[in-house]
Amino acid sequence: MIEVRGLHKSFGQLQVLKGVSLRLEHGKVLVIIGPSGSGKTTLLRCFNLLEIPDGGSLSIAGLELSFAGNVKLARKDILSLRQKSGMVFQSYNLFPHMTALGNVAEGQITVQKRSRKEAEKRGEVLLAKVGLSDKTGAYPHQLSGGQQQRVAIARAMAAEPEVLLFDEPTSALDPELVSEVLKVIRQLAAEGRTMIIVTHEMRFAADVADTLILMDQGVILEQGTPQQVLEQSENPRVRQFLNRIKGE
Ligand SMILES: Nc1ncnc2c1ncn2[C@@H]1O[C@H](COP(=O)(O)OP(=O)(O)OP(=O)(O)O)[C@@H](O)[C@H]1O
Ligand SMILES: [Mg+2]
Repeated sequence: MIEVRGLHKSFGQLQVLKGVSLRLEHGKVLVIIGPSGSGKTTLLRCFNLLEIPDGGSLSIAGLELSFAGNVKLARKDILSLRQKSGMVFQSYNLFPHMTALGNVAEGQITVQKRSRKEAEKRGEVLLAKVGLSDKTGAYPHQLSGGQQQRVAIARAMAAEPEVLLFDEPTSALDPELVSEVLKVIRQLAAEGRTMIIVTHEMRFAADVADTLILMDQGVILEQGTPQQVLEQSENPRVRQFLNRIKGE
């Protein structure tokens, strides 16, 4: 299970997260939507401590950390929490000088201390899972955006994290490549992977989410099933956001 309580994060004077609390059961999918600048990426980055919150607590699969602005976290706690989450970025962030297989194997060798042989064997299985068996030897510049993002998903899975974190995984892709990436994520959801996904793809969000959260100005405006949030919310700010994106 994943639980966040009273999470706060500021950048200088700017308060970006103003007390965010949520829970996610193992095997469930949480989707976060909301206007630009509402704090979605910051919240996601807090889950694997790419940003260190100023206050509140975070617990992933039994490991709980509390944050207070003036207390420095132990490096070993940061590393153990990071191992429990795998991040997939908007811009893939693959190593350009490594093949698809090399990218998926690398973290397993350096972080998980697996042998190269074992890491590559697992890498091949994961690349097959995302439909890239024929591209294991290709370098990122030889792959389409959708293929690169699927390599990034395989890489995030390689460490067997408790939760996969996706920050707008399709927003850098040409429209015709979006569906191949969403298909892989849907398949992972069907397999019961625990995932937290920030997306602007509303149909996908409604289909894949067990819980949908709408963030605005650093707080959760609404949360519930997609139907509760998208169809039944009476919060005027929720309706306003939904009407605006419908018009886009
Ligand atoms: N490292 C940083 N330093 C200073 N301000 C930051 C930093 N990261 C984010 N911010 C600010 O925090 C606010 C929230 O940013 P965040 O990236 O979390 O929004 P978002 O909801 O992901 O938006 P988008 O939909 O555009 O991706 C913004 O005002 C942003 O400018
Ligand atoms: Mg963002």
